[in-house]
Amino acid sequence: MSTSSKYLLAVLGALAPLAVVAQTTAPGISCPVLFDGRISYTTQPTDFDKNTSLYNPSYNLGQNQTWDQVISFPPMVPSLFDIPSRTKSFEVTINDQSIFLPGGAPLEVGFRRSELMPATNNGTDATVQGTTTFHWSMRTDLFKPLNYSHEYHPIWHETADYSDSEFTLTLGTPFNASFDPTVHVPKTLRLAGRQSVSPETTFFQVPFDDTVWHNWAVTIGWTTNTLSVWYSTDYEPLQLVAGPSFNNNTGGGDFHVGLMKEPTGPLGIDVVHAGYQESGINEGLIYGGVFIENSANGCVTTSPYTSF
Ligand SMILES: *[C@@H]1O[C@H](CO)[C@@H](O)[C@H](O)[C@H]1NC(C)=O
Ligand SMILES: *[C@@H]1O[C@H](CO)[C@@H](O)[C@H](O)[C@H]1NC(C)=O
Ligand SMILES: *[C@@H]1O[C@H](CO)[C@@H](O)[C@H](O)[C@H]1NC(C)=O
Ligand SMILES: *[C@@H]1O[C@H](CO)[C@@H](O)[C@H](O)[C@H]1NC(C)=O
Ligand SMILES: *[C@@H]1O[C@H](CO)[C@@H](O)[C@H](O)[C@H]1NC(C)=O
Ligand SMILES: *[C@@H]1O[C@H](CO)[C@@H](O)[C@H](O)[C@H]1NC(C)=O
Repeated sequence: MSTSSKYLLAVLGALAPLAVVAQTTAPGISCPVLFDGRISYTTQPTDFDKNTSLYNPSYNLGQNQTWDQVISFPPMVPSLFDIPSRTKSFEVTINDQSIFLPGGAPLEVGFRRSELMPATNNGTDATVQGTTTFHWSMRTDLFKPLNYSHEYHPIWHETADYSDSEFTLTLGTPFNASFDPTVHVPKTLRLAGRQSVSPETTFFQVPFDDTVWHNWAVTIGWTTNTLSVWYSTDYEPLQLVAGPSFNNNTGGGDFHVGLMKEPTGPLGIDVVHAGYQESGINEGLIYGGVFIENSANGCVTTSPYTSF
């Protein structure tokens, strides 16, 4: 019955802090839950604009957009950690309006962005302390395909000062091929480490097959500077596919779940504010089973333990 597993790292065990561990439990998750981003089966797109949303209603989306215009619910089989008739997957889309206006800075006309962030993230909360694991499942929408001539970041963890990210999932054609020299097939998901490390460190990559759910988990040791990657498809239990490896995890910050599309253009341009974006786009990715758990004692949920 129990298909969850725990893994213990000798080094982490030796350094395990005596901090109080949150004991919040949630169905199908065997470790203490710090953020349960699985949305109720009855959730509507407009609910993402409300203060009651599990995700921050204000960030990050186009200046003149509401989440109602960004989120949709295409018919889809449940993801690994979604609970049939209780929680459901959702699609995050980008279009020509998906141009973000950061506080006090010019419009980010180089990018197209729609990313959900946990409403409880404030840069220093419990999700960026000790050792925590970030879970999500993702898959393509054949009706809203991406343009793999561009580079996308469909998941990342940005530092609290917005200057860097501890880990980033990348997809598509790297804007700077030298920065991501391991990529030969653009339609490949790559889990990369700290973005200020150049060229970037790619810990694991896998073809982005349209026909399956891709289940991911990334375990971050916030003070031990370790990173592990877990992966499976459809309803298979997560397997450790990389790590624990060194990664500089300084900086806390926020978990981003959604699309960031880079422009194309010559190396050296300011990608945030310049470059080429074709118009008339209608692109999206489907996400499910988003949660963050406390892995202080080496605990990582690899499969739901409840029988649905
Ligand atoms: C939602 O929160 C924002 C920021 O705290 C506040 O300005 C706004 O009045 C709140 N809206 C509702 C409907 O409570
Ligand atoms: C949003 O609307 C304002 C007012 O019409 C306009 O100045 C601005 O350029 C729009 N932003 C985007 C990203 O289209
Ligand atoms: C962030 O959230 C944590 C936990 O809720 C809280 O203890 C802390 O004071 C918050 N920090 C800021 C800067 O608001
Ligand atoms: C995909 O992106 C490339 C590079 O920006 C662009 O030339 C091409 O027109 C785009 N394709 C589609 C179908 O929009
Ligand atoms: C492209 O990536 C390489 C390798 O990381 C780096 O040395 C170079 O500075 C980057 N080029 C630009 C223009 O950012
Ligand atoms: C991690 O990066 C920060 C910020 O760039 C730097 O100050 C620190 O020395 C780095 N730590 C390690 C262990 O490399």
